[in-house]
Amino acid sequence: MLPEITPLIAGNWKMHKTLAEARALAREIRAGLDPAGTVEVAVAPPFTALAAVAAELTGSPVGLAAQDAFWEPQGAFTGAISPLMLQDVGCRYVIIGHSERRRHFGETDAGVNRKAKAVLDQGLRPIVCVGETLAQREAGETLEVVSRQLRAGLAGLDPVQAAALVVAYEPVWAIGTGRTATPAQAQEVHAFIRSLLPEVVGNAVVRLLYGGSVTPDNAAALLAQPDLDGALVGGASLQAASFLKIAAAAA
Ligand code: 13P
Repeated sequence: MLPEITPLIAGNWKMHKTLAEARALAREIRAGLDPAGTVEVAVAPPFTALAAVAAELTGSPVGLAAQDAFWEPQGAFTGAISPLMLQDVGCRYVIIGHSERRRHFGETDAGVNRKAKAVLDQGLRPIVCVGETLAQREAGETLEVVSRQLRAGLAGLDPVQAAALVVAYEPVWAIGTGRTATPAQAQEVHAFIRSLLPEVVGNAVVRLLYGGSVTPDNAAALLAQPDLDGALVGGASLQAASFLKIAAAAA
């Protein structure tokens, strides 16, 4: 990790948690965080729980994140949620282009690009996700795929706004599988992303998160890699104890 970078540990709750469960988890995370901690922590509940979790987190340093956003501020877009609405409910971050959105909901790099710009224009911070499938890794295409996703997904971003950008490398084969990338595999791709970003977004310092089966057992070894600035945690973020251990491992 570069010394000027504050690590970010973000929990992606995906399609989990009723209102009561979300409130309880937010409360536990808030209560269990090290007040002297040097790590930034954020949680991404489902849309239905954003307001309730925002209320639980009022006055705490824990950031609120959404799991997706549409690119228009308002209009006849049934089912969509805008960056304006997310800012209004208290979000700081918005996850964009998660592989589950790409796979199940037809998200494209062009859509990621429009969404990332809209999120930045609203003063929010996009967490743009990239990552290869197992077939792509086995075919030796990992860096090519990540490069294509970044060049298209981040094309034309304002270099000043890009300072608010976060990129998450989430190899699809590591998500929800218990099969984590090794620290060396993650570092290789992170170093590649770090080297590519100046060409794509200019010289802003962009935080690079790793996601894919991060647990309290493997977090420290992953986060010790020089180009990992944090983690995007799925399954292990659904319980306060495991999520807090991962945050502690980043300190
Ligand atoms: P898991 O930690 O459950 O593998 O999920 C990772 C992820 O997709 C976070 O966005």
